[in-house]
Amino acid sequence: MSFPTVRPRRLRRTPAIRSLVRETTLEPGDLVLPLFFSARIDSPNPIGTMPGVFQLPVEAAAEHARMAQSLGLGGVILFGLPATKDETGSGACDPEGPVPRAIAAMKEAAPELIVMADVCVDEYTDHGHCGVLRPNARGELEVDNDATVEILARASVVYAKAGADVIAPSDMMDGRVGRIRAALDEEGFSQTSILSYAVKYASAFYGPFREAADCAPQFGDRAGYQMDPGNAREALREARLDEEEGADMLMVKPALAYLDILTRLREATTLPLGAYNVSGEYAMIKAAAAAGMLDEKRATLELLTSIRRAGADFILTYHANDVAKLLG
Ligand code: PBG
Repeated sequence: MSFPTVRPRRLRRTPAIRSLVRETTLEPGDLVLPLFFSARIDSPNPIGTMPGVFQLPVEAAAEHARMAQSLGLGGVILFGLPATKDETGSGACDPEGPVPRAIAAMKEAAPELIVMADVCVDEYTDHGHCGVLRPNARGELEVDNDATVEILARASVVYAKAGADVIAPSDMMDGRVGRIRAALDEEGFSQTSILSYAVKYASAFYGPFREAADCAPQFGDRAGYQMDPGNAREALREARLDEEEGADMLMVKPALAYLDILTRLREATTLPLGAYNVSGEYAMIKAAAAAGMLDEKRATLELLTSIRRAGADFILTYHANDVAKLLG
């Protein structure tokens, strides 16, 4: 059958019929809000490249937890800016650091809220790399994979003890999911889940985040551990390895330039899939809207819907509160 018997426009006539046949939905519960807690401030500090986003003092954690819960968000994910940094990023394992303290305060204020802890040492190292540096056999300075994995496992246990529901390693070291799972289980946290940043590309779209989290590498780049943007088969391989090591959920990051990866991964795994709508993606929308170039609300909803349509069950996004208010 074809035109004129068939007329697809019949199902687009009114908001009600469009709503009835809509294939992809977007709800507050699909959104996870990233938050930055700093040990160095006592009032919110705006991030210049990310309008509407702030570094927060730990004292603000409870209030933000109650807000996230009342908006019905799927969860929050916490990043930390420590009082001091060192070579090995030891602050990541400090039980008195901003992240463990904020986790505890949030779980007390809003026990039902899902609190995730990003696990990586780049915010805690003085050189800004996602691991400890060691000279390799040829004497070149490199991120030492296996030594870093031990630190990540220790940090994960600290965050689980503080009350984190989900541990989310973002470092891209090999073997870290298995080691974190073992460490959590040994310490009695067999019910704490792991959301692996399994597929994380070396991306220019992290630029604003590095101001937010004060973690730009002081030399070189992250291409030795984060993935090459040209690779798709490798994404499936990374995801499979993390699944085998015990990841409960997988993530693709960034989101918008990698929607094809999300779709391929959706077909390759039965695990829940997240996508990180990263800082540069957020900043682009804010800049274009501020310049009067597009309708911010419509553009944001359209992009977030595209990430869900591509295959993400949930989205980490700085738009979470605003969009939850729009949808609610
Ligand atoms: C590393 C980390 C980064 C982001 C989340 N975790 C930065 C990086 O890898 O350089 C980026 C998030 C964003 O851009 O919004 N701990």
